[in-house]
Amino acid sequence: MARRTLHDLNKQYAAGEKITMLTAYEASFARVLDAAGIDTLLVGDSLGMVVQGHDATLSVQLDDIARHVQYVVRGTQRAFIVADLPFGAYQESPQQAFRSSAVLMAAGAQMVKLEGGALMADTVRFLVERGIPVCAHIGLIPQSVHALGGFRVQGRDAAGAKRLLDDAQILAEAGANIVLMEAMPATLAKSVTAAIKVPTIGIGAGPDCSGQVLVMHDMLGVSGYQPKFARDFMAGTGTVAAAVNAYITAVKSGSFPGPENCY
Ligand code: KIV
Repeated sequence: MARRTLHDLNKQYAAGEKITMLTAYEASFARVLDAAGIDTLLVGDSLGMVVQGHDATLSVQLDDIARHVQYVVRGTQRAFIVADLPFGAYQESPQQAFRSSAVLMAAGAQMVKLEGGALMADTVRFLVERGIPVCAHIGLIPQSVHALGGFRVQGRDAAGAKRLLDDAQILAEAGANIVLMEAMPATLAKSVTAAIKVPTIGIGAGPDCSGQVLVMHDMLGVSGYQPKFARDFMAGTGTVAAAVNAYITAVKSGSFPGPENCY
């Protein structure tokens, strides 16, 4: 089975088919997610929280992500693999971001994800021009949890909403291949999705994004608490494979996220 490519994702976006993404951190779960037909897997720095047990993502190192990318790649045949650039591995300069991205691409990633708005546009351009596909993550950016004063919904007021819309447009113009939006009003995410010409992936950003992502542990109901934006797909299905199938079906049909999952 051929591994999905950026070209496949773009074709899916052009056809209006929702893109499904889940996080994955190791081979066995990744194999189940892959076999169920998930489009993309994100080796997220959420591994600092759900795997390593920290209360934030800040302690995750580049080597951690590279190692977990290798595990996920070994467990999968089909899913497109995105890897998070962890805190401190890319903010200094485009050159630092390139060096860190090269480590993740060598580990088997097909795209890197970085957090931040317009400030990251030069870095996005630098990476994309050098052959590294980029997913830009805006809205609630967990690596800035202390600057944001906690894990809080972003873009609720007019100024904040305008800033996020501008950020998305600037990042897309700089070459970002995907814009991931976390924890923002559904109406704002809908406007962003309509305003840019690359796919958007939402988490806590409402149903009108080009695709959806959840942390796998939230989707399976094993995180210890259920965030508003997540749904426990294990409840009522009973197996991991059935839960992933239910997630994929719900995202593709537009029934997830529902109004109860939106801000
Ligand atoms: O690290 C992660 O899991 C993420 C998702 C929350 C999108 O960035």
